[in-house]
Formats: sequence, C-alpha cells, structure tokens
Amino acid sequence: KEIYLGIDLGGTKMLAALVDPEGRVIDHMQAATLADQGSERVISRLIALAEALIDKHSDEGGSKLRICGIGIAVAGILDPQEGTVLLATNLGWRDVPVGRMLEQRFSCPVQVLNDANAAALGEWMAGAGAGTKNMVFVTVSTGIGGGIISEGKLLLGASNSAAELGHISIDRNGPLCACGNRGCVEVYASGTWIAGRVQDDIARGSRLPEAVVAAAGGDPDRISAKHVTAAAQDGNEYAKQKLADAGAALGAGLVTFIHLLNPEMIVLGGGVSESGPLLFDSMLQVVREYGIPGMVDNVRFTGAGLGLFAGAVGAALWWKYAALSRAVQT
Ligand code: BGC
Ligand code: NA
Ligand code: ZN
Repeated sequence: KEIYLGIDLGGTKMLAALVDPEGRVIDHMQAATLADQGSERVISRLIALAEALIDKHSDEGGSKLRICGIGIAVAGILDPQEGTVLLATNLGWRDVPVGRMLEQRFSCPVQVLNDANAAALGEWMAGAGAGTKNMVFVTVSTGIGGGIISEGKLLLGASNSAAELGHISIDRNGPLCACGNRGCVEVYASGTWIAGRVQDDIARGSRLPEAVVAAAGGDPDRISAKHVTAAAQDGNEYAKQKLADAGAALGAGLVTFIHLLNPEMIVLGGGVSESGPLLFDSMLQVVREYGIPGMVDNVRFTGAGLGLFAGAVGAALWWKYAALSRAVQT
C-alpha cells in the first residue's frame, strides 16, 4: 500500500502524519515547535518526530515502513526547487534548506510547500472543497495564510509564493507587520496579534482584560488567542469584542479575495477558527456589507473538513496531485 508522510510545521506546533492516497490519516504525532530555539533544533525535533511515527509502523523484524514521498508544509515563503524556506517570520527562519535536510535523512523525494497552499490542496482533494473548481482556503492561526484553487488547479505563481492572503493590506497606515507591509489582515486577526492587543490593553492599565488573564492562569505573558476565546465563551464582553474586531478585519480581507478570485467556496481553518461564530459573525457581516452583491452572495463558507490536519494531508497529497497534473499535461 502506498503511504506518504505529510508534515505541517507551524509557528506553534509541528504535526507529522502518515497519509494514504485517498487523504486518510493512518496515524499522526505532534510536538511543540518551540521556534525560539532556532531552526537546527526545530528540524532535529521534526526529524525525531517523523522517525518515531515511521518506527511505530515498521515491523519488529526491523523492516522499515516504506514512505513513497514526503510533503512538508511550512508557514512561509519558499523556493520549492531548492527545498529552501526563504522567509518564515513566525518561525524566525531565513534561508533554511529544510527540504534537503529531510531528503538526506529519509531517502525519498521531499516537496516543500507553503502551509496554507498545502492545506488548500488537502481541503480540495480530500476535504470540504472536494468537487469545487474555485476555492479559497484561509487559515487563521499564529499567522494568517491563504491557498487558492483556481479553475481546478492549485495557484502557485511565478515563484510558488502566490496566495499570501494574510499580507493583503486593509489599511496602508495600519500597524507595521513582520512582512514589511502595514495594516495586513494578519496584524488584526491572527492569533498572535489578537493576544498582543489584549496585552497592549493590560500595558495601558486597562482592567477590562481581567477575564482573559484569569483564563491564562493569571499570567498576562501567557495569553494566547485560546484564552481570549475561552473568556469570550464564558460571556466576557471585552473578549467577545476582541474576537469580533478580528473577525471584521478578516471579513475586509475576504471581500478582496472574493472580488479578485470569484470563488464558489471559502474554507476556513486554523486554530483560531475554532472560536467559531465569535469570529465569523462579524466577518460575514463585513463581507455582506462591503462585497459586491452578486459576487459575495454566492460564496459558500465552511470550516475545514480535515480540521487541523489539512496542511499535513495536503502536503502528503502533493505527490498524487503532481502525478495527476503531469498526466493531464501530456
Ligand atoms: C505567512 C504565510 C503562512 C501564514 C499561516 C503568514 O504569516 O506569511 O506564509 O501561510 O502565516 O501560517
Ligand atoms: Na499561501
Ligand atoms: Zn504582513
């Protein structure tokens, strides 16, 4: 049986999954990324994680599980020919040849993909977007990423960096983003920035974030978007407002994606998406209010069918997608 290894390397956690050609996850393991330890230690932990997963499925006689290909989804801009991550701000990586390093360790082909592009591929081939031709995937996590299926193809662009949807600016005078642009959707709606806004309010002496601090176990430095969501789910108005603000900014970004790409479906994934209506109600309101009526009305919005596995599954399915695309071309 053909088995692929899909890896999703995010700003917060890494996930390795054994995936079959239908996109089913046979087994998986995950670990914290701990990006501040630097790329070498992150990669050695990533390799250890993948090896542990492969070993678990190798028989006791010592014959290793054979992997047909590895796909690794990384939160950044890459050079897939070289297998190099050129810039991943949420990992703190610049020019890291992760593809080569994995190729040396596991003797099989390795494809490096942007995390959200991989997730878009996964959702389209085996998730919520199956059967569509024009689909946009948006992940709201540590950062905000996007992936585009246009006319039945994964849109990669001239240097495979297409669909940096989180870095579309909705205010050119807005806060400075790590990417160099200002007012990116990411600086209003990513998990990192949602938490940062709460921390700013605390620094300004506001008592409003108290419920969020409590959700974070009393330590303001530990606040993440999860704690904001937890407080909001408990009915705290301040936390609800922070998520609604993030959702509205996301909605402003989505209006642009819809006008540009005319998708039939928008799939929303990533950890912060689990806040559900707390984030999406204001998002949909902005989309309806600011979008061109004939265009926004026909878009179906849905959650990621593969959940938090979308990136890993999509990365693994890259090999099937590449083979299918080659077959179509010849
Ligand atoms: C990065 C994207 C990535 C997204 C989600 C953004 O900050 O620029 O490449 O897809 O975060 O991880
Ligand atoms: Na992308
Ligand atoms: Zn940006």
